[in-house]
Amino acid sequence: MTEPPLGNTESPLYLAERILSLTKEVTSHLDELSCPTPNFSTRSSSPPLTSTYESLRISLNTVAADLLRLINGPQNHFRTLFCTHYDLAAYQVALEFNFFELVPLEGGIAVADLAKKAQIQEDRVEMVMRFLATQKVFKESTIGFFEHTNASAVIAKEPLLKDAFSMQMDEMFRAASETSRSIQEQPYKFDSANSPFATRHMLSAYEYYEANREKGARFARAMAGVTQLDRQVSELRDEFPWETLGDGTLVDIGGGSGHIAVYLAKNFPRLKCVVQDISPLMLAEGETQLETSLKGRVSFQTHDFFQPQPLVANAYLIRQIAHNWNNDDAIRLFSAFIPALECSPPGTPLLINDTILPELGEKTAYEEHQLRQLDIAMWVVLGAKQRSEQQFAALLKEADPRLRIMKVHSKGSMGLMEVHLVKE
Ligand SMILES: C[S@@+](CC[C@H](N)C(=O)[O-])C[C@H]1O[C@@H](n2cnc3c(N)ncnc32)[C@H](O)[C@@H]1O
Repeated sequence: MTEPPLGNTESPLYLAERILSLTKEVTSHLDELSCPTPNFSTRSSSPPLTSTYESLRISLNTVAADLLRLINGPQNHFRTLFCTHYDLAAYQVALEFNFFELVPLEGGIAVADLAKKAQIQEDRVEMVMRFLATQKVFKESTIGFFEHTNASAVIAKEPLLKDAFSMQMDEMFRAASETSRSIQEQPYKFDSANSPFATRHMLSAYEYYEANREKGARFARAMAGVTQLDRQVSELRDEFPWETLGDGTLVDIGGGSGHIAVYLAKNFPRLKCVVQDISPLMLAEGETQLETSLKGRVSFQTHDFFQPQPLVANAYLIRQIAHNWNNDDAIRLFSAFIPALECSPPGTPLLINDTILPELGEKTAYEEHQLRQLDIAMWVVLGAKQRSEQQFAALLKEADPRLRIMKVHSKGSMGLMEVHLVKE
């Protein structure tokens, strides 16, 4: 049998060698940072959020996934994939019935005691725990006795992460299962009223959260939790020269409970921030949680971003907003900035911090999968979509031909585009 040439990216041996060399790079990077090598115990620390680690992690995921696909073959691969919803079912139960908190962080618990605390029949608790243990989420240390692993402990210790996970396993998981039915019902309507979410829950996501206040508050917390999962917020901090705004005002439009404004205000002690949102619930959540030291610099205002922007400021930020809307609504959103930008000094930035979908071959398969996963998520939840730089430029031009993307500060896990109203 002829060996494939060295460097053939579809050869299992080549991929395995890449995995080895990337893993060596990961461990020496951890050594340089004096970070311990990860393990599955509750004492293992989370990976560092350095750009080197992130880029090695992305490369490793890309090659490791390809190796497994080649070795498993499509039949085995799909057998695992098309049963994933049963995995999610087990997580749904564990989250809803608080298994993560009920298992003590030190020691462990017998399944019978866990079942009593969760108030569910023992059999089903055992089924779920044994299933999760196959993924190193909990460990059955002796028969019928479970302890935490690093993965299960993270959920017990990070309530915002748990909120994000629970929200996905609850309303979003249910919504995603109705995706094709939503198209059958409305093949040519692509908007929030005809999203899979609305098909499943009989209300658009925004109406649903207004009607289900507790879930609305969980959604706001989940948004904050998700940002802790990656480097997006530190990228936002580092990729725009915020110091140039001095003691000027940044308006964070659709800022929810204000976690981004708070983060920026903490990092740039002269900056003032106004958080605008349509949801009084989210604004109230932000106001309640606001640290006393920030009270003079971070404020909250109810505002519908489809109405003309009422504040003349030094910079405007829309983060994870455009991707929530279909094209017509995105054009209305951008148009609403025109009156304020007309009154602002030339060069006042409108910052769009949103995913920028890659052109063909621009990103690794792992990164592109994550970005396109979010593209499908926007469709499922809101009947909306993510966009490439060119697609953004076209929508901005439709809103006003003077709106131009002057700089793309980042095309990382989330992009950052700086738009100006070019007054000629
Ligand atoms: C996906 S969240 C983004 C929150 C925040 N910008 C972030 O990056 O975490 C979308 C936000 O837009 C707000 N929103 C939705 N419709 C709005 C409208 N018409 N006017 C103002 N805010 C709105 C929602 O309440 C929510 O807080």
